[in-house]
Amino acid sequence: MEKIVSLCKRRGFVFPGSEIYGGLANTWDFGPLGLALKKNLKDLWWKEFVENEENIFGIDGGIILSPKVWEASGHVENFTDPLVECKKCHKRFRVDQIKDLKKCEECGGSLTEPKKFNGMFRTFLGASEDKSATAYLRPETAQAIFVNFKNIIDCFHPKLPFGIAQIGKAFRNEITAGNFIFRDLEFEQCELEYFISPGVWEEKYSYWLKKMRNFAELIGLAKEKIHEREHGDSERSHYSKKTIDLEYDFPFGRKELWGFAYRTDYDLKNHSQKSGQDLSFADEENKRFFPHVIEPSMGVERTLLAVLCEVYFEDKDRVVLKLKPQLAPYKAAVFPLLANKPELVRKARMVFDELKPTFQVAWDDRGNIGKRYYSADEISTPFCITIDFESLEKDDVTIRDRDTTKQQRIKISNLVEVLKDKLK
Ligand code: GAP
Repeated sequence: MEKIVSLCKRRGFVFPGSEIYGGLANTWDFGPLGLALKKNLKDLWWKEFVENEENIFGIDGGIILSPKVWEASGHVENFTDPLVECKKCHKRFRVDQIKDLKKCEECGGSLTEPKKFNGMFRTFLGASEDKSATAYLRPETAQAIFVNFKNIIDCFHPKLPFGIAQIGKAFRNEITAGNFIFRDLEFEQCELEYFISPGVWEEKYSYWLKKMRNFAELIGLAKEKIHEREHGDSERSHYSKKTIDLEYDFPFGRKELWGFAYRTDYDLKNHSQKSGQDLSFADEENKRFFPHVIEPSMGVERTLLAVLCEVYFEDKDRVVLKLKPQLAPYKAAVFPLLANKPELVRKARMVFDELKPTFQVAWDDRGNIGKRYYSADEISTPFCITIDFESLEKDDVTIRDRDTTKQQRIKISNLVEVLKDKLK
């Protein structure tokens, strides 16, 4: 983990949040390469869970919703963890995460009795700061979907089953120190609420579970490191009838990667009752009922961490991230063999400009070629393209494969097609 954290910082993937002020626990900023990797991951999720499926509608709902949403959804009442507080150093601990419920792990002070602590971030609407002005930053993206259920029905008239998907920020007032970006105060979720007739939930549950497992494979996570764990009655969220966590073998242990819940008609029913709006659905025989919901939910940062743990390799003389090409921030890097030979630089620029409209490409002319390969491997660039003296005569380049380190010569006129093919 230390090596991954250090590479992420050194190479512009992830920086500690508010670092110049000594940092802020469990917050992180994403640099250019982290941003690109995150974007590629989200795009792939959207393609798989929205575009390649039928009848899935995307939305981009608000982060701040009416406080009534969180009352109806049960989060004000139930989105809580029992905590104890040290009477001496005032540090708080989650009851389920400490061994001794009497003594503080940090300073040895005595602990209070457990108290419920709500994990939602609070803020105030308007100028007043009293209780009536309290609002919350959403702790899951799902509720913005449920409150737009009727809008989607009215605009698109879908038949069951159909889904509404969203990618966006969620916020949780986590008090447990996270392992790097595993547990954050703010993070992104890719969520799908899939609306079904109640009678078919088991079949649909299996379908989406398989889809999640396939997605894990698609992004390069090893099958044997993914495990299903069903929640027991006491652990399951207040809205769920069945939850399976897909867990991953992180270097710091086996932990939840994604959540997968059967939310029944809990949310639509409650929002219907509390808002006074009819959120039931009329089937083809005009029978009205509340659709049930299957929910695959993926945290983007946590997935990114799993992927980084999976693809980090050290060979004898290099560090390499073997990301699937679709996820790699750059698909190729272009090098003039020598930076002080204008004819090489000119030709390399021409190749770079030719590739740029089609691929994310990087330019590097610093140091010697070995150093450039080292640097490209570390950030997972699948192909390095070098323009050497032979290129000037033959109008070709060398293309070096990140994983095998083998090189071949390719005509510049074929380069775009060859790269497209290799990146498939
Ligand atoms: N709407 C359902 C829901 O929010 P969850 O299991 O609480 O379910 C879903 O969260 C996913 O969001 C988790 O499996 C994880 O990937 C991610 N996640 C949750 N809390 C997180 C946190 N504090 N930091 C990073 N990711 C988090």
